[in-house]
Amino acid sequence: MSDKAKHIAVMTSGGDVPGLNACIRAVVRSAIYHGMTVHGVQNGFEGLIDAQFIPMDATSVSNIIHLGGTVLRSSRSERFRTAEGRKQAAQNLRKQGIQAVVLIGGDGSFQGAKVFSEEHDIPFIGIPKTIDNDIFGTDQAIGYDTALNTAMQAIDRIRDTAESHQRVFVVEVMGRDSGYIAYGAGIAGGAETILVPETRADMDNLLATLKTGWGRVKSSIIIVVAEGDETGGAANVAELIKQHLPERYVGICILGHTQRGGCPTSADRILAAKLGLGAIKAIENNNRNVMVGMVKGDLVLTPFSDVKRRHLELNAEAMSLIEELAF
Ligand code: F6P
Repeated sequence: MSDKAKHIAVMTSGGDVPGLNACIRAVVRSAIYHGMTVHGVQNGFEGLIDAQFIPMDATSVSNIIHLGGTVLRSSRSERFRTAEGRKQAAQNLRKQGIQAVVLIGGDGSFQGAKVFSEEHDIPFIGIPKTIDNDIFGTDQAIGYDTALNTAMQAIDRIRDTAESHQRVFVVEVMGRDSGYIAYGAGIAGGAETILVPETRADMDNLLATLKTGWGRVKSSIIIVVAEGDETGGAANVAELIKQHLPERYVGICILGHTQRGGCPTSADRILAAKLGLGAIKAIENNNRNVMVGMVKGDLVLTPFSDVKRRHLELNAEAMSLIEELAF
């Protein structure tokens, strides 16, 4: 594609996050500002295959900045993994006259878009979103800040009742392969221990510490565990603790999809706005198949081929933060 794209589409793909609507709004408004026409693709890659396009103008994104979910809806598409599905999607895009697509998604969606683009020569620009925050090429992904605050507020509430009744609670947060929410919410919520998939926890040491390891018997104890931790999650951790502390009530609270919904924080809305405008700028500059990220306050473009899963690095300093704060 040598000429600048003037007809574009925007879509959301994969698991939803708070801040998607703020991002759709930013993409649509910025595209129109720069003289482009915009179509929304409904239901992610599924909608691309089924030609679910809707024309969008500046007013079609009014009053959505504060809403969770995605007005365009989303999906995880098996059909887009097939050459046949991608061919159908390309035919639909060509029929609509669409020359570039802004894809608000995760690393899996970007890899699908890369394959598609190599086959059909229609470029994508990616914007990173995931509450798991595990995408390389951006300091933060859209949705993480809101999910982190949701988890922290839940921990605060559990602390109130745990303290009143001198109970132990194991709180399970999302993160199939990622400990970002667990680590952040655990620190912000004053958790006694944090269990994440990126490190192997010393359970013997934990159980010993739960008894008198802090030099005092704590009236309430909160353990935050990521769903993907090798312990298998809150139920298993609680069971283990009950065996060692039979005198204590050990409760579990699984936050699950509450972390995926809700009103986005200001940080997520501002990030969504900046990345949305960054995506349109990338199209204006004829970029292809890159993700727009924010690194140390600057917009950074990363080719889809370099976008990988990022892992939480728990160095000695990060580990001692958990230990010292719980003391
Ligand atoms: O990848 C984000 C995430 O929220 C994970 O933390 C979680 O394991 C997964 O999505 C759940 O996805 P879904 O319920 O949409 O299949």
